[in-house]
Amino acid sequence: MNPVTERRIPRVGMVGGGQLSRMTAAPATALAIGFRVLATSADESAAQVVSDVVIGHHDDLDALLRLADGCDVVTFDHEHVPPAYLLELEASGVAVRPGPGALVHAQDKRTMREALAAAGAPTPRWTIVEGIGDLTRTGDYLGWPLVLKVSRGGYDGRGVWVVSSHQEAADILATTPLAADAAWLAEERVAFTRELAAQVARSPSGQAVAYPVVRTVQVDGMCSEVVAPCPGLSDERAMQAQELALGLAKDLDVTGMLAVELFDAPQGILVNELAMRPHNSGHWSIDGAVTSQFENHLRAVLDLPLGDPHPLAPWTVMVNVIGPRDADTLPPLQDAYRHVLARDPGVRVHLYGKDPRPGRKLGHVTVVGDNLDTLLARAHHAANYLMGVIDE
Ligand SMILES: Nc1ncnc2c1ncn2[C@@H]1O[C@H](COP(=O)(O)OP(=O)(O)O)[C@@H](O)[C@H]1O
Ligand SMILES: [Mg+2]
Repeated sequence: MNPVTERRIPRVGMVGGGQLSRMTAAPATALAIGFRVLATSADESAAQVVSDVVIGHHDDLDALLRLADGCDVVTFDHEHVPPAYLLELEASGVAVRPGPGALVHAQDKRTMREALAAAGAPTPRWTIVEGIGDLTRTGDYLGWPLVLKVSRGGYDGRGVWVVSSHQEAADILATTPLAADAAWLAEERVAFTRELAAQVARSPSGQAVAYPVVRTVQVDGMCSEVVAPCPGLSDERAMQAQELALGLAKDLDVTGMLAVELFDAPQGILVNELAMRPHNSGHWSIDGAVTSQFENHLRAVLDLPLGDPHPLAPWTVMVNVIGPRDADTLPPLQDAYRHVLARDPGVRVHLYGKDPRPGRKLGHVTVVGDNLDTLLARAHHAANYLMGVIDE
């Protein structure tokens, strides 16, 4: 008899077969935690590497129940499971973490903005746009340019538009179909000096740990670079961001990882949005922290003691590998690896097993060390080579 399987292993089911599930599989393996994913097909990113896969969609209750059957906890690599199904899952006896009451704040930017206002968190000024007829009021309130967002279903900048005029906004409202349960949100365009992210892990029993506050760079609404910790951020502002994230995790009863996306602006720190799952701003932690966000997500949802979030070196730089406009410019992977890995034995490459498509996150690279300028150059060189942007 196998003594390990004999001592019942907890099993976590993760909804979604993307790279976040794929990267959660590694610490699940290390800790011998059972790990099952719900993927839409066998060739999805996580389904390629996880042995226990349920094929199905996140909006199919039967598929969700098949995922949950035999799991101790169900968690998520995206926020899109309908709340009614989350309640059904709970009723079936499985723990859902984060729970439906928390997750609604990451599913709908309007609900999130209302909760942030109730919590007294600083945010950009915002309003709901009731339709084209409401744009004059919106523009008078927020000024032009402003930022239009669909409240639900967007990600990586899809569902976000910076618009400079009434006409431009009206065109977007007229041509963009809105899901039945979604709303149009408008926000003041914040003149931020940089974007930050504050990540915390929180367990059901209330233990919480905060990662160092990082600097993120978004290109076309998509994360492209992260530096941990944020260079030049005062201790005071860093602590304020961490306390904000810890407070929100507690107030909203988040279990697992919470990422708070922030604007560092002249008027202070403002909350942009919340994500209740491992997040692109925390990929650096795989190679750069004592305990990665993926491991701490697993520990948190299983209510195990949390791991140390401290960095291993003064600086960690992560750069995303994003699908180029023309996939034909990509070098054969074998050749790219020969070049990138030989040139810099210190670079850590993570590819997600996804077909290259323009603007698609295909992977990331991480470097860890003492000299930030050198690390930035090394990480961008490796990512650019893997993206076919440079060939030497
Ligand atoms: N109010 C704003 N002012 C200025 N830039 C913004 C504002 N809201 C969003 N952005 C920019 O757009 C990016 C994506 O917006 P976000 O609301 O985070 O959408 P998503 O859900 O796609 O990540 C942000 O990271 C930021 O760069
Ligand atoms: Mg965002």
